Amino acid sequence: MTLGHAHGGPDATAGTDSVVVRDVAKTFATKTGDVSALEGIDLTVAEGEFVALIGPSGCGKSTLLRLIADLDSPTSGTIEVFGKPAHRARRDQDYGIAFQQAGLLPWRTVAANIALPLELHGVAAAERKARVAELAELVGLTDFADRHPDQLSGGMQQRVAIARALAERPRLLLMDEPFGALDEMTRERMQTELSRIAAETGAAVVFVTHSIPEAVFLSDRVVVMSPRPGRITEVIETGFGKDTARDEALREVPAFFDRVTSVREALHGTPVPTSGREER
Ligand SMILES: Nc1ncnc2c1ncn2[C@@H]1O[C@H](COP(=O)(O)OP(=O)(O)O)[C@@H](O)[C@H]1O
Ligand SMILES: [Mg+2]
Repeated sequence: MTLGHAHGGPDATAGTDSVVVRDVAKTFATKTGDVSALEGIDLTVAEGEFVALIGPSGCGKSTLLRLIADLDSPTSGTIEVFGKPAHRARRDQDYGIAFQQAGLLPWRTVAANIALPLELHGVAAAERKARVAELAELVGLTDFADRHPDQLSGGMQQRVAIARALAERPRLLLMDEPFGALDEMTRERMQTELSRIAAETGAAVVFVTHSIPEAVFLSDRVVVMSPRPGRITEVIETGFGKDTARDEALREVPAFFDRVTSVREALHGTPVPTSGREER
C-alpha cells in the first residue's frame, strides 16, 4: 500500500517536531467570571510520535486539542505545528481531526464521506476514486463503500471518520475521545487498528482519552493533566516502541500493567490504596 507522507519527496520540514506548545494558557470569559482552563502548558510531539492526553473531565484536554487544531486561540503562549503557526498549518491541511461523534453525512455513502475533503480541495475525480479505495482498504471497509452511515455499526462509522481524517495524508492526527462511544470489545479492536494505521502512515497522533489502558496501549508517551486550571502534572513514557506489536498479547504483559499503574498513580497524585478505587 502506498500511503506515503503528506508532501512526498524530500521534505522541507523533515525532522521538525509535529507539535510544539510553549507556555500556553487559556482563559474563557464567562458570565460568572473568567475560567482558567489551561495554564503553563509545554508540550512537544515529535514526528510520528503517539501522545495520549489523559485527565479528569474538565481538565482542558479538548481545549488543548482545539488550540493545536487552531479551532480556538491561546490567551498566551505559542503553538507551532510542523514549525508553522497553528493557523498556517490549518490552512495547509497539515492535520486530520476525529472526534467522539463520527460526524458523517447521512445522505452520503461511505465512499462519498471519505471523499468529502478531497472534493472540497478540488482533487480530480479519478485520483479521488483511487485514494478513497485505498483508504477504505486501510480501515477495512472495502466491502461497505456503497453503504450509508445508518447501515454501519458505531465502530464502522468511526473507521469512516478516521479514513476521512487521513484522506489528505496528514502527518498529524488530532483525536478527541474517538472511541468513547464504543463498547469495550469494539474499542479494543479499534485501538489495534489505529496503531496499525499510525504505523503505516507514519503520522503523529495526539489522542485525548479518559481510559488509562487505552492511553497506555496506544502511546509512546502519556501526558497526565490535572484540573482547574489544567496543567500537565506528569509525562509517562510507555517504553513500547514502534517495534512493539499493539496486539492482544501486549495487554497481558507485566510492563503493560506497570504503566497502567504509573498512569493511575499520576492521575490520583499518590499511590493508589490497596482497597483500590477503579476508574470506571
Ligand atoms: N467555550 C468555553 N467557554 C467557557 N468555558 C469553557 C469553554 N470551553 C471549555 N470551557 C471550560 O474549560 C474547562 C476545560 O474544558 P475541556 O477542555 O472541555 O475539558 P476536558 O476536555 O478535559 O473535559 C472546563 O472547565 C470547561 O467548562
Ligand atoms: Mg473533552
